[in-house]
Amino acid sequence: MRIAVLSESDKAETRVAATPETVKKYKALGADVVVQAGAGQRAGIPDAEFEAVGATIAPSATDAARDADIVLKVLRPKPAELATLKQGALLIAIMDPYGHTAALKAMADARVAAFAMELMPRITRAQVMDVLSSQANLAGYRAVIDATAEYGRAMPMMMTAAGTVPAARVFVMGAGVAGLQAIATARRLGAVVTATDVRPAAKEQVQSLGAKFIAVEDEEFKQAETAGGYAKEMSAEYKAKQAALVASHIAKQDIVITTALIPGRPAPKLVSREMVESMKPGSVLVDLAVERGGNVELAEAGKVTDHNGVKIVGHLNMPGRLAATASSLYARNLYAFVETLVDKDTKALAVKWDDELVKATCLTRDGAIVHTAFQPTA
Ligand code: NAI
Repeated sequence: MRIAVLSESDKAETRVAATPETVKKYKALGADVVVQAGAGQRAGIPDAEFEAVGATIAPSATDAARDADIVLKVLRPKPAELATLKQGALLIAIMDPYGHTAALKAMADARVAAFAMELMPRITRAQVMDVLSSQANLAGYRAVIDATAEYGRAMPMMMTAAGTVPAARVFVMGAGVAGLQAIATARRLGAVVTATDVRPAAKEQVQSLGAKFIAVEDEEFKQAETAGGYAKEMSAEYKAKQAALVASHIAKQDIVITTALIPGRPAPKLVSREMVESMKPGSVLVDLAVERGGNVELAEAGKVTDHNGVKIVGHLNMPGRLAATASSLYARNLYAFVETLVDKDTKALAVKWDDELVKATCLTRDGAIVHTAFQPTA
């Protein structure tokens, strides 16, 4: 069994799909591991560290992927890169499958079995493989660090001989994995934190982190969580009530961090231009939803902009801004999944195609798109 770890062709991608720690574990599973030269460079892992734990370094993607049974990546490879893969190889990455049917078709045509790590079910057995959680947690942390860096004032209250400095007021919109970590991080830095969400379950979690919960808690709010634990699209009436509540609150905040997402839909617009304009100069907004259309009306993907003195941070790939930590957690998520695809006794690939985790994540196989959620429409 041969496992290839490829470099990321996307310039914005700093993470790598394996670390020396996981390479060691793959070796123990009985695999030969080949790492493309420079794959770990941007995550602070030189080739020599992979070699030291028994990996072979290949000079190119073609050399690395040749004869590989399993190919590990962070992002879905571009169609041109697929030609290097062996037919029947398992390709495991964050696939971003929604709305990208042509890319899925290209993987099917290359006759690889492509697995989307972000479709892993959120069940107890698969928690260790949950890339959405491992990466969102870091994104939430980094959002606060970036906001702090852009903010021209101190975060905690300070009582000094020259007088008292007030604590920063931080408002977190969306209290899922990223939002809860943002709350915890801002609290650790000494900010006064408030947060909102449309799911009633979020209220207690926000409060348990020492933040105040702010939301329109009507009948619709009480029903707003899906069985899977996700938010629903709210009615226009609820959105209007929520916007009115949020508008007066935002005007008093120093830092606003937005993380609100609805699976398979564009991010809800929560912060309007008027709300941005109501904030004091020197305030900072960080929009973590910018890759999915953004929660903040004026946020620009990949940019930090200034609107009348209010900074709006729209960094892409927030977990990639912590490349080493994000890679180490992502690599462990991948290992935990790969381990389930291997027979420990024969040390050979033994994919159980009817396993719940395999069925939920497998996009393509034997030349076809097999996932029920991504069937091409005629
Ligand atoms: P997400 O990334 O899909 O969305 C982020 C947050 O935005 C969610 O809390 C959502 O309710 C909120 N949101 C959506 N629309 C909003 C609006 N209009 N205003 C304010 N907030 C809005 O969610 P994430 O972080 O993936 O978490 C979803 C749920 O899954 C949570 O309940 C979380 O605790 C749960 N979860 C369960 C795991 C498990 O293994 N059982 C693992 C990780 C998360």
